[in-house]
Amino acid sequence: MTNRKRPEDLRSHRWLGVSDLRSFGHRSRLRQVGYDTTDWAGRPVIGIINTWSDINPCHTHLRQRAEEVKRGVLQAGGFPIELPAMSLAEVMVKPTTMLYRNFLAMETEELLRSHPIDGAVLLGGCDKTTPGLIMGAISMGLPSIYVPAGPMLRGNWQGKALGSGSDVWKYWDEKRAGNITEAEWDEIENGIARSFGTCMTMGTAATMMAIAEAMGLSLPGASSIPAADSNHPRMATQSGRRIVEMVWEDLTTEKVLDQAAFENAIKVHMAMGGSTNAIIHVVAMAKRAGVQISLADFDRISRTVPVIANVRPSGAFLMEDFFYAGGLRALMSELRGLLDLNCMTVTGRTLGENIEGAKVHLRDVIHPMSDPISSEPATGVLFGNLAPRGAIIKPSAVEKRLLKHRGPALAFEDYNHMASMIERDDLDVTADHVLVLKNSGPKGGPGMPEWGMMPIPRKLVKQGVRDMLRVSDARMSGTSYGACVLHVSPESYVGGPLAFVKTGDPIEVDVAARSINLMIGDEEMAKRKAAWVPPPPRYERGYGAMFSAHIGQADEGCDFDFLAAHVPVPEPEIH
Ligand code: FES
Repeated sequence: MTNRKRPEDLRSHRWLGVSDLRSFGHRSRLRQVGYDTTDWAGRPVIGIINTWSDINPCHTHLRQRAEEVKRGVLQAGGFPIELPAMSLAEVMVKPTTMLYRNFLAMETEELLRSHPIDGAVLLGGCDKTTPGLIMGAISMGLPSIYVPAGPMLRGNWQGKALGSGSDVWKYWDEKRAGNITEAEWDEIENGIARSFGTCMTMGTAATMMAIAEAMGLSLPGASSIPAADSNHPRMATQSGRRIVEMVWEDLTTEKVLDQAAFENAIKVHMAMGGSTNAIIHVVAMAKRAGVQISLADFDRISRTVPVIANVRPSGAFLMEDFFYAGGLRALMSELRGLLDLNCMTVTGRTLGENIEGAKVHLRDVIHPMSDPISSEPATGVLFGNLAPRGAIIKPSAVEKRLLKHRGPALAFEDYNHMASMIERDDLDVTADHVLVLKNSGPKGGPGMPEWGMMPIPRKLVKQGVRDMLRVSDARMSGTSYGACVLHVSPESYVGGPLAFVKTGDPIEVDVAARSINLMIGDEEMAKRKAAWVPPPPRYERGYGAMFSAHIGQADEGCDFDFLAAHVPVPEPEIH
């Protein structure tokens, strides 16, 4: 390759290769660790950003994977440096990991900027870690490769495969309806998460890992490998070898992530029946890369790309099956005619070259384009007087009768209000009602928690109702399903029209027409708007106060206003 870097061109050379007072400090302190010149001189320094922690069950193996990445870096002549970062365990962090995605993005960017790093390996997978790591790496702009944590093995209960999240919601409703005993519930708790790795349904983790690969940021096939499969450590080592070459080739994120790469990612997202959360993350990552992606792009692309991955919650199987079926390379080979195959990837080859020869091995799991698993698309973007800047629905996971629906609102002011009412047997609710949850958006939640799949009122669950139209400014887990209208923008907390909904107001949703409206007339709407009083701030100090002051709305990707700009940041001075 031409324009190959020389050792003195390396970014780390400023720290380690020159002869001055400060470089003496850098080198003498590396010697303090036990390294000597042979370890670093003339070698690319590779930062391994690791989101491992004791409390993140999805990343248990990343401590070991970091060692496997290091092995690859050393084999290729690099100098590996592991840098721990915020772990963001989806199920543990409250009120929601989304509050901290941008924190991880800032941490990633500044870890890379402030240290003598020439290239980055990003170790993540649990929901927000993928976009957080990638957003930071994009803004820093070094050669970077993403190593996905990979999905955990299938769950198992009484001979049935269990899927993360999706089967929790499903069997929780059965328990609420009295169809499952405490002892059986305990068995499910024991069987649903059997190995390290991310959720193995098509949740946000699996969706974002696939999107990262589709954008060209991972080795081909990496995102589908189950975490516990021996292909996974081999992939980690290969990634370590590859990042060293990427540094010499100066193959930066900017050379990989263009408009076509993001469009490829959205197409893959649709074909996978991916998580609605990914929409926010893709918009945010694109902004960081200086690429304009809007909700309208998702809607446009969703109309042309059918769901062909038969994975829960839209389908029947799990990510382990998807791997055996050929994984993402096989899925992308099915989409070949729709993808831009000329996009550059971290391999130094094009996407088309990366998927050369890929085949589908299990037709039940990855369908042909001519036989999609749902006649409905993975994403619909709704607009109307209730969501002037848009709202999201996942038509492929909705009971068909609710795709066009008009019903009276049952409005909850916040999550606690909803939780206090939903189990009451005297709740005045029918299956035709539209559940509305306010104050769950980026500022109101805060952090836009995954509350959008509101529970079906217990009274109705007992009657056999399993889906209802639900509207909120929250997100929902990618493992969730149902007629949930999410991400209503602008959110109610800042005075979006959702704030004005009262119980009994008619709401009309028409997915085919992509519309959502509050049918109370313009005059009444204006009257309620004039009477609306903004709620007090959620935080007086700390990160929460900064978050509230700078967070964008869902349609903008929920990035901080001061981070989203695609402008250069100076290298640190060394004095
Ligand atoms: Fe980590 Fe689902 S909890 S991916």
